[in-house]
Amino acid sequence: MEMKPLHEGKLDRAQTLSNARQEAVYETISVTPVTRVIGVEVEGVDMTQPVADAQLGDLTQALANHNVLFFRDQPALTPKQQIDFARNFGPLHMHPAAATSDENPELFVIHTHGESFVNNGADWHTDVSCDAEPPLGTLLQIHRTPGSGGDTIFANMYAAYDALSDKMKSFLADCTAVHESEHAYRGRYADKGVDDDGKTFPESTHPVVRTHPVSGRQALYINETFTSRINGLTDGESDNLLRYLFQHMIRPEFQVRFQWRDNSVAFWDNRCTQHLAMWDYWPDERYGHRVTIGGDAPFYRAG
Ligand code: SIN
Repeated sequence: MEMKPLHEGKLDRAQTLSNARQEAVYETISVTPVTRVIGVEVEGVDMTQPVADAQLGDLTQALANHNVLFFRDQPALTPKQQIDFARNFGPLHMHPAAATSDENPELFVIHTHGESFVNNGADWHTDVSCDAEPPLGTLLQIHRTPGSGGDTIFANMYAAYDALSDKMKSFLADCTAVHESEHAYRGRYADKGVDDDGKTFPESTHPVVRTHPVSGRQALYINETFTSRINGLTDGESDNLLRYLFQHMIRPEFQVRFQWRDNSVAFWDNRCTQHLAMWDYWPDERYGHRVTIGGDAPFYRAG
């Protein structure tokens, strides 16, 4: 009997995973991979200062390639500094449900403490995919971290797509899905003084496979927080296929887990990632500021 090498099959998988990250050379930043598949620590950026065009190009490319950028060396940014930095990447997105202040309507305060009854982003999601034009990216700085815990886990949706069979990829190529938000948002920000009486919440239909407008690569674009059904399937088919894909897309090998330190910044690309914020630190406090950059309507282009 012919003996098969023990690594057979595993090498194919490793190759698929490492293809998820495209190599690039940057002029103005240095990047250190955190995993082979998603996430780099970035040095060479000062978010308190205007960003030169060459650096903007590098950061845009790095975001498309590595999906989430981590910065360990920024000071506590003022709301204006964070908003100005985020604006380099496009007009800012206004959250359809969260509390905002008149002074800085683009700033979303992330704050969980001993009296909180819910933690923002505790289930897998990509930000506000219920919008017709969901956010391109999100820039989050955590100013105060709990004694331990409070990590954010990100998963690479290019890698999740690449790991599907060709038959499944061609089936999903034609599929669209409904992304709803009322169940997620109604009452969600009551503790921050938001009154949802008479409010309607966004709902949109998007392709299940999304072509990234910068990289041209295909990414799975459904998530368990907002995606309620795949169009054109029976309820049972849709429920079961979604359940399978939700499990598939968060496989550990597609993930990076970010351990925040005070004033760390994460900048993620919502078009090709999902994330989950762990709430394992109650009754400790975790506090930060999030600014979200507007995006385009998702599309699928065969490639
Ligand atoms: C979010 O989903 O926007 C929050 C992520 C986090 O708090 O780590």
